[in-house]
Amino acid sequence: MNFKLKFLVIGCGSIGRRHARNAVNLGAEVILCDLNIQRMRDVGAPLGITDYYTDFQTAIDKSGADTAVVATPSNFHFEPAKALVEHCIPVLMEKPLCLSLDEALHLERIVRERNVILMMAHTYRFRDEWIAVRHMLDDWSLGKIYSAEFAGGWYLPDWHIREDYRTEYAGKKELGGGVMFTSMSHFFDIVRWFFGEVDLITRVRMKQSNLDINVDDAAVCILKASSGVIITIIEDFLSRLPRRQLRINAEYGYVEIDFNRKQMSFWDAHAKRYDPTIDAATSTNPDLFRILEDGVGYDLTPEVKILKYSGNDAYLNELKSFFEIVSKKTTHFALDIDSGIKVLELIHNKGIQHG
Ligand SMILES: NC(=O)c1ccc[n+]([C@@H]2O[C@H](COP(=O)([O-])OP(=O)(O)OC[C@H]3O[C@@H](n4cnc5c(N)ncnc54)[C@H](O)[C@@H]3O)[C@@H](O)[C@H]2O)c1
Repeated sequence: MNFKLKFLVIGCGSIGRRHARNAVNLGAEVILCDLNIQRMRDVGAPLGITDYYTDFQTAIDKSGADTAVVATPSNFHFEPAKALVEHCIPVLMEKPLCLSLDEALHLERIVRERNVILMMAHTYRFRDEWIAVRHMLDDWSLGKIYSAEFAGGWYLPDWHIREDYRTEYAGKKELGGGVMFTSMSHFFDIVRWFFGEVDLITRVRMKQSNLDINVDDAAVCILKASSGVIITIIEDFLSRLPRRQLRINAEYGYVEIDFNRKQMSFWDAHAKRYDPTIDAATSTNPDLFRILEDGVGYDLTPEVKILKYSGNDAYLNELKSFFEIVSKKTTHFALDIDSGIKVLELIHNKGIQHG
């Protein structure tokens, strides 16, 4: 693929660096903007990028950029995004869209008025392992889904080995950090993608650890999808063993997905449930699990599928999708500004119902 675009990367930290590299690989000309000149040199030199700006407004006015990504800390998404859409420059927005709903609605107004492309970087939708689950739901064979449980977490000090976690945006309230904005935002988007529109029923959000941060480091949310599925999400900055898991309980079976171990376990009741009144061997088979001694026997061994794991491909495909939307001037696409606003509404408890 060779996209003849001039792509401005605003914020050249961990994710901005990745976008810059991917954009070069997709054939775009890349321009960098960061407050930290040395960081731009470190990112730009191996990629042959020489166009650097320390001020996003100057970059927008002078660089000739025709596309951009906003990859600054979450507290500083609104200002560059507003300047870009006011200049009708299509923008890929890192999540969350911004911090406040007022800012989000302000952006939405400009996007609609000027008919400019703003695509949310909800990267999980481009990850092979999450796409595999979406396909499984498309071909679903286990009847009505009753509940889905997401669990995610990793230990904040282990995130970036070269940085002190106390200086990173994720642990700082003033930079828009915390579990809800940083991590839960991914899950909120995924829940909508998998199960349709959701209402937030209740949530607990707190700081549990002694980590030197001033944000929530753990949260539990309960949501209900319009389809009736009850969803719980637990997410934290504390899990010593990194985890990304989903369990689905359905009418005729159960599915367990461990995204980090790349494994999907599928348990179909039709194949794994033995009725002792029909199957005589059931009562003498010691390997079957029984709730009570004279009850039904269950073979707990699931069918296991190994998932492909995306790595950088997810980010590359996300950027490619953005470039294609821009090149084809697509007007309707899934990750539009509305998808960012919906996630922000959930983060802000909009419409929360207790009970
Ligand atoms: N989609 C994903 O999977 C994903 C992954 C990581 C981060 N993110 C999001 O991307 C954003 C950035 O995260 P990160 O981990 O790269 O952060 P980071 O701290 O590594 O990088 C942020 C960069 O922005 C620069 N910056 C700060 N203020 C600026 C300004 N006014 N103008 C220009 N540059 C400025 C900083 O100097 C730094 O280089 C966050 O909002 C985060 O939520 C998304």
